[in-house]
Amino acid sequence: MPDTGSSDAFVAFERVQKSYDGVSLVVKDLNLTLPKGEFLTMLGPSGSGKTTCLMMLAGFETATHGEIKLAGKPINNIPPHKRGIGMVFQNYALFPHMTVAENLAFPLEVRKIGKSDREAKVKRALDMVEMGAFGGRRPAQLSGGQQQRIALARALVFEPELVLMDEPLGALDKQLREKMQFEITSLAHSLGITTVYVTHDQTEALTMSDRVAVFNDGRIQQLAPPAELYEEPQNSFVAQFIGENNTLEGVVQEMRGDICTVRLDDGEVIDAKPVNVSKVGERTRVSIRPERVEYNRERLRPGAHTLKAKVLEFIYMGDIFRTRLAVAGNTDFVIKTRNAPDQVRLKPGQEIEIGWLPEDCRALDAL
Ligand SMILES: Nc1ncnc2c1ncn2[C@@H]1O[C@H](COP(=O)(O)OP(=O)(O)OP(=O)(O)O)[C@@H](O)[C@H]1O
Ligand SMILES: [Mg+2]
Repeated sequence: MPDTGSSDAFVAFERVQKSYDGVSLVVKDLNLTLPKGEFLTMLGPSGSGKTTCLMMLAGFETATHGEIKLAGKPINNIPPHKRGIGMVFQNYALFPHMTVAENLAFPLEVRKIGKSDREAKVKRALDMVEMGAFGGRRPAQLSGGQQQRIALARALVFEPELVLMDEPLGALDKQLREKMQFEITSLAHSLGITTVYVTHDQTEALTMSDRVAVFNDGRIQQLAPPAELYEEPQNSFVAQFIGENNTLEGVVQEMRGDICTVRLDDGEVIDAKPVNVSKVGERTRVSIRPERVEYNRERLRPGAHTLKAKVLEFIYMGDIFRTRLAVAGNTDFVIKTRNAPDQVRLKPGQEIEIGWLPEDCRALDAL
């Protein structure tokens, strides 16, 4: 949920709305604060408003309502060159008439950094993105991924207090992407840089961030550290968007404090944790992670409800086994088990019983 504003926030969005056409809002009532040094990622589907938020923070778009503050001051009152913001945008525009090294030296010259210091910083930034040998080339002589790395180096070379990055690694192959993820976060943390990072790669968001803001339809659906986001999704959208989830639909039958029972649409009853439901009779979509499903009865609580399941497919994936089941009318119910020496390998056609700890099965909104 959006957090409340705090006076020591380094970046603050306060009740921010944005409309491009004066009719529809693409950002709706955004409240978000970042303390200094935080690495925050905006994650969400295409068109959910992530880039718009970044553009408003950078000052290239103005908010239709609300206020954005940097170090306690409304951003409108700070001229762009005094904001000390490093940026990498989706269309990473390098200066075409300058060489790579000149592109990187430019933000340092603007800040009146002396020549020898400048050269050392440019070299370090180029080495960080593995482009040390390319200082003399012009952007047009580089591949898309190489240009993206230079744009990244240019955003970080002057050690800004705040860095905004919009899909900065989109053009890179997996290996380079993972290396850059590590370089960016370790540099940001060691220099105390506050970062707002945009991606639609959820693994990237989970591995890099202090907190992740999940966007959908112009609103933050949940704002939480990675583990909390994965383990405690607050609504069905987040549960579906982050990681893999099995869902079963039904009606809340009984509420007993931190446990509820749900009657599924095919009549069977299960235990769940009421997260986004409040009363008996309400429709719900329960959500359970593939790795939290148990078919070993001893590991369940006495009296736990179980469901009959039929094995449809068994996939050996090396480190894990991925088994697809038919459960309560859902033929896409997936469980994941670790490849351990004593692990049971289920076979297609086999009939089993599955269950879970109620706290691992979340009763959420029915969408
Ligand atoms: N300059 C603009 N004029 C009019 N509408 C715009 C403009 N820029 C963005 N939009 C609209 O605002 C909405 C949010 O766009 P935005 O670029 O913020 O999404 P995003 O979350 O960054 O998506 P993506 O992941 O595809 O980059 C979209 O519906 C988009 O079409
Ligand atoms: Mg975008």
